[in-house]
Parts: sequence; C-alpha cells; structure tokens
Amino acid sequence: MITFKDVTKTYPDGTTALKDVNFDVREGELLALIGPSGCGKTTTMKMINRLIEPTEGLIEIHNKDIKEYNIHELRWNIGYVLQEIALFPHMTIEENIAVVPEMKKWKKKDLSARIDELMHMVGLDPDKHRKRKPSELSGGQQQRVGVIRALAADPEIILMDEPFSALDPISREQLQKDIRSLQQEIKKTIVFVTHDMDEALALGDRICLMKEGEIVQLDTPQNLVLNPVNSFVEDFIGSRKTPWQTAVDVIMEQSGDAVYSVDDYESGRVPTHGMFHLRKSDGTNGGAVIDGRREVVPELDNGMVLKDAVALFEKHKYDSLPVVRGNKLIGTLSYKDIVLFLKSQSKEEEV
Ligand SMILES: Nc1ncnc2c1ncn2[C@@H]1O[C@H](COP(=O)(O)OP(=O)(O)OP(=O)(O)O)[C@@H](O)[C@H]1O
Ligand SMILES: [Mg+2]
Repeated sequence: MITFKDVTKTYPDGTTALKDVNFDVREGELLALIGPSGCGKTTTMKMINRLIEPTEGLIEIHNKDIKEYNIHELRWNIGYVLQEIALFPHMTIEENIAVVPEMKKWKKKDLSARIDELMHMVGLDPDKHRKRKPSELSGGQQQRVGVIRALAADPEIILMDEPFSALDPISREQLQKDIRSLQQEIKKTIVFVTHDMDEALALGDRICLMKEGEIVQLDTPQNLVLNPVNSFVEDFIGSRKTPWQTAVDVIMEQSGDAVYSVDDYESGRVPTHGMFHLRKSDGTNGGAVIDGRREVVPELDNGMVLKDAVALFEKHKYDSLPVVRGNKLIGTLSYKDIVLFLKSQSKEEEV
C-alpha cells in the first residue's frame, strides 16, 4: 500500500540518510521500524507525508506517486505522531485534537464526542483536561494527546515516531494494547518507530530493522527471531519476549490423548506403537512408553520456556515429553504442539 522504490535521501550537507531503500507496507499491517539512532527511521517516516522529499526514487500510496496527491489531502489522510512532542502551546487540549477534523469539516457534535472517546481511551479525563493548555499537562500526558490527535480524524495511515517513549511502563502497555486492538478492528496501516525490540515484537506484524540508511532485515517477528540474516540482527534481538519465551504449559496438550494410567498400562489397555506417557494413581509422572517399552524420559517443568524445552527436545530426540507442575503430570508437549503454537502466533498466513 505504501511502496518505497529505490529511495535515497541525501541531506544538503552531504549526509546520506537512506541508501536505495525498497520496501512495501501492506494494507492494514503494523510495520515496526527499528534500528540504532541515526539509521534513518525518522527520515523514512517524514518522506511518507512529504515533510522530506527523496533525493532519488519514488514513493507510492495505493500505487500512485505521492507527489500526484494534493498535499493537504495527503497529510489529512495520514495521522502523524512526531518523535518530539509537538502540541500547539497556545491551544487547549481539545483544540489540539480537533485541528485535522476541523479542517475536514467535521460536525461540532461528532467532534466533541470523538474527543471524549479518544481522551478516555488514553486515560485522560475530558472534564479535567479538555480546556487545559499543553504546558499544564505532564510530558507523558502530552505524549498521549499527541497520539490521539493523530487518530482523531480517522486517517487511513498512521505514522508514529517513538510515541510511547516518555510513558511509564503501565501507560505504555495500555497504549500498546489500544494500538493493537485498534489496528485489528479497523485495520489501519501503521508505521511505528521504536527503539524497544520488545515493543516491536509485541506490536509489529512485520519488523523492519535498519542500519546506516539500509534495511538489514524486514520480516515477521518469528522469522527475525528464528532466522536472523546476520549477527547484527541477532545482537539487536538479544534474548527477548518472543514465542520462545512462552511457558510450556501455555503450549502443551492437556486433553490427555498421549497420557494413560499406569493401571491401563499394566492391564494392557494401551497402544503397542508410538509414544505416550503414564500417570500414576497419585497423579505423578509414571514415565514414558515407546513402542511398548517403558522408558525414563526428561520432564519439562510447567514454567519452563519454549526455548529451553526445544533445547531438551534437540538433545534427547523424543517426539513428546511430559509436563509436570510440582510433582503432578499435567500434560504433554510434542513437536506438533510446538508447530501449531508457533503457527497460531504467526500473523502471516504462509508461515
Ligand atoms: N536536516 C538534516 N540535515 C542533515 N542531516 C540530517 C538531517 N536530518 C537528519 N540527518 C541525518 O540523517 C541521518 C538519519 O537521521 P534520522 O533522524 O532519520 O535518524 P533516526 O533513525 O530517526 O534516529 P533516532 O533514533 O535518533 O531518532 C542521521 O545521520 C542524521 O544526523
Ligand atoms: Mg528519529
């Protein structure tokens, strides 16, 4: 939907901020842009609404060169949260939020209801804050107004340049959730800059990792974690909250298909092929049976993360392992469960 074709930006002083960049933001996706300071994230954003013009190359929205759009319409249709808080200081909070809707000639009543709705969404009491000036709000509150101002006129595209950097972790998490559900419901196309890999992994349908004006890897969170193209990507990801950090009891099979009681085993009411697990009458793990033979296999603790569990699978080569909580057998985890879980986590159909 937004397409960069061979885009290069060299500033007048000779700094090349972007080098021959090609990528596509798909309709309804949230693309997280991430990379070290100075790698060109803000430059990329500002080119989408023509605050900065490329030196070379072409940017298209809906397959049309952005230069062919009326510049005002282009900008009204793109909500933009700037990296630096940039509310109009002489205007009240409600006037700040109303700027674009007023240009779009919204009705007063609709606009007022919209302002209430948005302020509630970010935990600002309209009665208390509507008539204040930005200087009468804390930095984090101003930032929240910056976010809702960008959403106010219901734009098709939203650009967010580190919108949550001044927020405390709780407000930040709340706003992340709001953005996520907003994006799932109304399918906005969002380009989101962040320094925080956890935030990128949590929010991004895809993540674009940049370095020195170039794209190093643009991929789903899963692929970025599983198949980093080089050590720069690996280092940047580090050890993060990914599907791989999910506890095994979230992923395991609970139905008990692969679990029989020791009684059933001893009276022969169990399959003679394949692998399953036994539960003793007191609920504890009774060991595994593989093709009719009883074997002792490693146990997975219920709170163990998937990454560590997979390491055990790699080491021992069993298809499934028992999951225990305390001393009770609570389920099993198999390769199949892992694949299904990763598939469910992936927002990409083809993965
Ligand atoms: N107006 C300008 N004139 C000259 N160089 C500039 C200008 N604006 C940005 N740059 C340079 O272009 C490069 C990319 O800047 P940009 O602001 O896009 O980085 P960024 O990835 O957003 O960084 P940060 O994470 O610190 O916000 C940097 O080297 C920066 O110094
Ligand atoms: Mg920036």
